Amino acid sequence: MKGLILAGGYATRLRPLSCSKPKLLFPLVGVPLVDRMAAWFGRGGVTEVILAVNHLSDKLRVDVSRRRLDTKTVLSVEETPLGTGGPINLARPLLDKDEPLIVANGDVISDIDLRGLITVHARSGAEATIALVSAEDPRPFGLATLDANDRIIGFEEKSETNRGPGWINAGVYALTPKVIAMIPHGRPVSLEREIFPILASQGKMRSWKHTGFWYDIGKIPDYIIANRQLLQRVEFRGTTSVEPSMPMAMIRQPSYIGENCTIEDSAKIGPYTILSERVSVKRGAEVSETIAFEQTTLGENCTIEDSVIGEGVTVGKEAMIGKGSIIAGQVVIPDRAIIRTGSVILN
Ligand code: GTP
Repeated sequence: MKGLILAGGYATRLRPLSCSKPKLLFPLVGVPLVDRMAAWFGRGGVTEVILAVNHLSDKLRVDVSRRRLDTKTVLSVEETPLGTGGPINLARPLLDKDEPLIVANGDVISDIDLRGLITVHARSGAEATIALVSAEDPRPFGLATLDANDRIIGFEEKSETNRGPGWINAGVYALTPKVIAMIPHGRPVSLEREIFPILASQGKMRSWKHTGFWYDIGKIPDYIIANRQLLQRVEFRGTTSVEPSMPMAMIRQPSYIGENCTIEDSAKIGPYTILSERVSVKRGAEVSETIAFEQTTLGENCTIEDSVIGEGVTVGKEAMIGKGSIIAGQVVIPDRAIIRTGSVILN
């Protein structure tokens, strides 16, 4: 069975971090989202994943070809963005003609039981089966209305009216080839606005309710929450590592130190600090509740609180980065600079 990840959006809500890094390469507890999604697809029985890309596709191509993902991946590149439906149409030559396609938004991290979803999809005879999660306020999402048998009978995308808690689109679907054939050619198409409401009105849509781990990382605060939640999950802790060769450094858990990080004496790290690979933390640096992307250098005696530091950033000696700051990739923060609470520093 094949899977497809929609990963061609501009990720405007993750700017400035997404100006230099596609969303699929954002680290989630040190591991790029694409790796985690490929592994999740593989566990669900998907044997090949198509990455439907556009914005920063070259970066993704280079990165994905450098590393070995758990499931075979191929890229399908759009010249102009085709929305959430158009890329599926474009990828048709790569799809199986008589098997459902598993589609996932490239900004969702979850442990949705794909095998369960696929089984229900096959048994129910539905044209589309959508994973749903519950939300207190469904307004930013697609809200599904269900009948007593969990069939979706209505689908409303991003309503302005708060209808109270409800089941929302989790961004993971099984689609039959018939649905894919319904997608108009040669223009951007929104699955959620153009295709799902038709299927729901025809009674051809089934739901798969998910009550476990699920986060949409499309906004920076949600990206941070997803990292913290993932950090605390026992299943994912296998990769939490603390180098034994840094006796004088203090690491408060939960924290994650990626591969090939160097942490010098008397540095204080954590809690809730996540360092991707090749991060260098110099003597006396204090880094708490912070996510540092790969290849960052956090200078001697600097202090960083509750911030996100993009890839390749250099933080100078004794610099102070206040809570809630976002530093874009490759920025150099000079020695002794004071970055005020809530700052966004562009490259
Ligand atoms: P924002 O600009 O912050 O809204 O993010 P986004 O561009 O990623 O859009 P959104 O979060 O609504 O998209 C949901 C998923 O669909 C994401 O994984 C996007 O990468 C993907 N997506 C959105 N538009 C396109 C598109 O035109 N082409 C492709 N291939 N994927 C898309």
